[in-house]
Amino acid sequence: MDGSMLTRMLAPETEDFLSDVTEGLSAARKSLPCKYFYDRIGSQLFDEICTLEEYYPTRTETALLRDTAGEIAGLAGPGISLVELGSGSSVKVRILLDALEVPAMYVPVDISQDHLIMAAARLSSDYPGLAVAPVVADYVREFPLPPGIPTERVLAFFPGSTIGNFRPAEAIGFLNQLGRRLGSGSRLLVGVDLRKDPEVLEAAYDDARGVTAAFNLNLLVRINRELDGDFDLDGFAHRARYDAARGRIEMHLVSLARQTVRVAGRAFLFEEGESIHTENSYKYSVPGFRRLAARAGWGCDRSWTDPDRLFSLHWMVWTKRG
Ligand code: TRP
Repeated sequence: MDGSMLTRMLAPETEDFLSDVTEGLSAARKSLPCKYFYDRIGSQLFDEICTLEEYYPTRTETALLRDTAGEIAGLAGPGISLVELGSGSSVKVRILLDALEVPAMYVPVDISQDHLIMAAARLSSDYPGLAVAPVVADYVREFPLPPGIPTERVLAFFPGSTIGNFRPAEAIGFLNQLGRRLGSGSRLLVGVDLRKDPEVLEAAYDDARGVTAAFNLNLLVRINRELDGDFDLDGFAHRARYDAARGRIEMHLVSLARQTVRVAGRAFLFEEGESIHTENSYKYSVPGFRRLAARAGWGCDRSWTDPDRLFSLHWMVWTKRG
């Protein structure tokens, strides 16, 4: 034993990959839920995306966290419990953990079980005095919080502009539900990507080396493997486009020919040029995001941006009772 304090929490497996895929491919406009990107290979590819030259959000948010960590630690005060939503490899949170005054507990929540358990074990051995309680869950649904977590002093950490992967109305619903779940006195530190030159945005989601394309196409690989699908990987292409009116990057998998694909014994027809919409990434202005959060019940005390105004961090306080 290395003296680390690591407890494991498993949420019941509630997702239903097959029914979500069947439903998504049967719709007039085909789509697939983005949470299924993150199998073992998908999680690895995503980590690689975060190191790409074109993908500015990770390094920009990391630098911004370093610059603001002292101030954040002051706002948080001593003895807080940190709950991270979609913790992935738990890299950015180390900046906070290093700055916070005796954090009580770290609760990483992620859908990718193996990735989560490995990252939590690494983190736990690097922070021997810290209680680490990973929760395997789709955090968009109800997820269990570890017993004994002091609800008065919870800081939720939601980096990576993952909030941008919700439609605005869903983002409001999600943030509201999160606040009600965490209760009075809770705080939220959220990272939000900002609107900018469409060329910069499109390059970030369609890199020259094709890592993002491989990440998007891996969804089809996963369907082939887990749901007995026969997607021809050369028959689909990755596409990322910025929709300026909606302020969002859309990611698609475009069928390069008219073709029929089978999944778990069911046939799905694709016309040439027809696409599967796999993800949105909404971009906000600082006031735009603060208004959205306010509608969800979170008061925004502080917002920070990097000097080039690429990315933003927001410190929020739950303003509703209960
Ligand atoms: N939250 C990230 C974002 O919207 C997720 C992400 C980054 C992503 N790159 C991606 C999702 C590529 C799918 C494909 O920026």
